[in-house]
Amino acid sequence: GLSGGRPPRDDKFARVTQEDVQYFREALGAGGRLVTDREGLQAFNRDWLGNFEGATSVAVCPTSTQQVSKVLSYCNERCLAVVPQGGNTGLVGGSVPVHDEVVLSTSAMDNIISFDEVSGILNCQSGCILQALDTYLAERGHTMPLDLGAKGSCQIGGNVSTNAGGVRLLRYGSLHGSVLGLEVVLANGEVLDLWQSLRKDNTGYDLKQLFIGAEGTLGIVTGMSLLCPARPTSVQVSFLSCKSFPDVLHIFRLAKQHLGEVLSAVEFLDRESLVTALEHMPGIRNPLPDGTSPFYMLVETSGSSETHDKNKVEEFLAEVMSAGLLVDGALAQDTSQASNMWRVREGVTEALVRRGKVYKYDVSLPLAEMYALVEEMRERLPGDSIRVVGYGHVGDGNLHLNISDARGKERQEVREAIEPFVYEWTRERRGSISAEHGLGLMKAECIRYSKPEAAVRIMGAVKKMLDPKGILNPYKVLPRDVVHEGC
Ligand code: FAD
Ligand code: MLT
Ligand code: ZN
Repeated sequence: GLSGGRPPRDDKFARVTQEDVQYFREALGAGGRLVTDREGLQAFNRDWLGNFEGATSVAVCPTSTQQVSKVLSYCNERCLAVVPQGGNTGLVGGSVPVHDEVVLSTSAMDNIISFDEVSGILNCQSGCILQALDTYLAERGHTMPLDLGAKGSCQIGGNVSTNAGGVRLLRYGSLHGSVLGLEVVLANGEVLDLWQSLRKDNTGYDLKQLFIGAEGTLGIVTGMSLLCPARPTSVQVSFLSCKSFPDVLHIFRLAKQHLGEVLSAVEFLDRESLVTALEHMPGIRNPLPDGTSPFYMLVETSGSSETHDKNKVEEFLAEVMSAGLLVDGALAQDTSQASNMWRVREGVTEALVRRGKVYKYDVSLPLAEMYALVEEMRERLPGDSIRVVGYGHVGDGNLHLNISDARGKERQEVREAIEPFVYEWTRERRGSISAEHGLGLMKAECIRYSKPEAAVRIMGAVKKMLDPKGILNPYKVLPRDVVHEGC
């Protein structure tokens, strides 16, 4: 899954010995889990896409911050490299070892600590599964401020560490706003307590922001405080088809105008995405009789008054129709229709993996030019086995460009037709080569397409300060030339 091949092992790192394993076993005590058998390790070594595979010989699953601290301070002392891992749903190869790094998994740290129904503030450990948190909050009239297709397996610590976006960012903003406090274990084992539950706190630099989106390179997030909104009681989902990408954008504009205060998601997918989802995901139905239009949209509102919200959506749809923008449209009549609409959109990711090899790109671009990238890519990659698909969070200016190859394995000629073209194209428009998935291993050497030299240099300095030996998630996020020696 890498254009330049896997980076060589940095031999400053020690190799795991039997004594190390024995130490981890004692540090975990009775509660934690240690995995050392080949079969059990497979799940920790291989990423969700099947693009990256490491060769760790040990996965450590602590239950408490103190255990994480013990394990890290030991690894730092021994100069053992460590990969933090949550639900392992990351899409850029950040969550799996590159070589023989120790995996530190948060999967056994899944306690909900407290929830305040007045303030909406949730405190929990980082291994809580996103969907489990949302179910817990639903019972208390609240909702998680983020939602994504991987909700059934991704963990909140992984979400924070990737600054995951997802389908409700349009409504609730990014985790940089929703996270009120964090507890982080630094590389040397020190516990950095930034675990506050305050809406407002302007006492100096806001250090917790550094760890949001750091992809495990600066510390291990162990606990957090999150601001959770009240759960909307009326959710309306509509699915539309239209003739062109400019029409998608026009519909987005009308959605903001007519649904502004209740709008909660504006997603799009092209016909190739829809077809892929319908072909490979049994049980998903096309919400519309129309399967031949080039573009589809999912527009969701979340409010507190069903009649009011339904009226508004109907007015919006009438407006879209009278503007001549709509080929076809459906408003979900019940939760099963609504969830089918969501499954079409969110099912594209898994459908692509089922179809064969996926080359996955996640870019932020100016809206007006966004879809031209998909069209140009199609011209560069003709052939029966290849399908170029575009979908994503159009309301946030985020395109997911995916090249699917039914032949199944990585091919150099395909990769070379995509890279560096896609990165150069994005840079020319001052876009971002990673809107929400992060850089991980896949794009560590590509950071300069989206960041100036001074920013990369400062990032290297921050890394050196917080992780002087460079043991945390090596080979990821930062390019090789700014990573200090260490050990
Ligand atoms: P992992 O994959 O385990 O780890 C991700 C990164 O964070 C790694 O670099 C890892 O080292 C680091 N990390 C994990 N836990 C910690 C911790 N406690 N402390 C420090 N570092 C840590 N992403 C989006 O942004 N938006 C989407 O809409 C979206 N949809 C997805 C849909 C599907 C079907 C899939 C498979 C993935 C999707 N993703 C999406 C990508 C992925 O789910 C997110 O990045 C998610 O936030 C990762 O969480 P995780 O627990 O699986 O983390
Ligand atoms: C999505 O929006 O579906 C996710 O980011 C996953 C993907 O890019 O496929
Ligand atoms: Zn996405």
